[in-house]
Amino acid sequence: MSDESHKDCCANSAGEPTATRSTVPMWIIVVTLILLFVGGVYFDHHGGWFSPKIYAPFNSAEEVEAYQPKSGEAAARARGKVVYDSVCGICHGPDGLGKPGQAPKLAGSEWVITKGMNRLAHIPLQGISGPIKVAGQDWNMNMAAMGAALPDEDLAAVLSYIRTSWGNKAAPITAEDLKKIRSEVGNGALPMTGDQMMKLPE
Ligand code: HEC
Repeated sequence: MSDESHKDCCANSAGEPTATRSTVPMWIIVVTLILLFVGGVYFDHHGGWFSPKIYAPFNSAEEVEAYQPKSGEAAARARGKVVYDSVCGICHGPDGLGKPGQAPKLAGSEWVITKGMNRLAHIPLQGISGPIKVAGQDWNMNMAAMGAALPDEDLAAVLSYIRTSWGNKAAPITAEDLKKIRSEVGNGALPMTGDQMMKLPE
């Protein structure tokens, strides 16, 4: 009886599946090598080789946002700010509040928030000199034609910027309108006095 059961056990165990070593099919090796090669070429072209300039040019999501191309009004405003800060802000201050002994304020200035653009555009195109009143303050200095050398787009953008910043709420000006006013002023026009300027239509 015990002999029989022993036989049963061994006859069964002989039928169990066994793992055998078999070679990896050649095509898997070939496909793997091709994928590695293609991946390597792709990385070479697109990866940037771990340069910190490519992997970490920005410090925050806001910074990335600031570099995104802007459209329409936002683009013109950004351009106006850049021109203002580099050309006008030196005297009139980055906040438009003017600088004592250098230039009057643009924030709240009756010269800036005019109905139309004609008179205001004349100021950077030909300059203004002599006594003027700005928001209740007396000034008696000279400003050269600081905007005469700027392209129409840039001067229009900067004038639109000063008309819509620091609490100023006036309509912006287009480059086409500015071009028209510039052609009326002409090249090399001499600075006007404040009184002459005030007689120009707004
Ligand atoms: C070198 C200094 C200087 C720069 C740069 C300058 N301005 Fe002026 N600006 C003056 C001075 C000074 C006056 C006052 C002139 C006077 O007393 O008659 C003035 C007056 C003005 C006025 C009229 C008064 C007022 O404050 O509203 C406007 C508008 C103006 N500037 C706009 C501009 C714009 C736009 C730019 C850039 C394109 C510019 N200025 C660049 C010095 C400057």
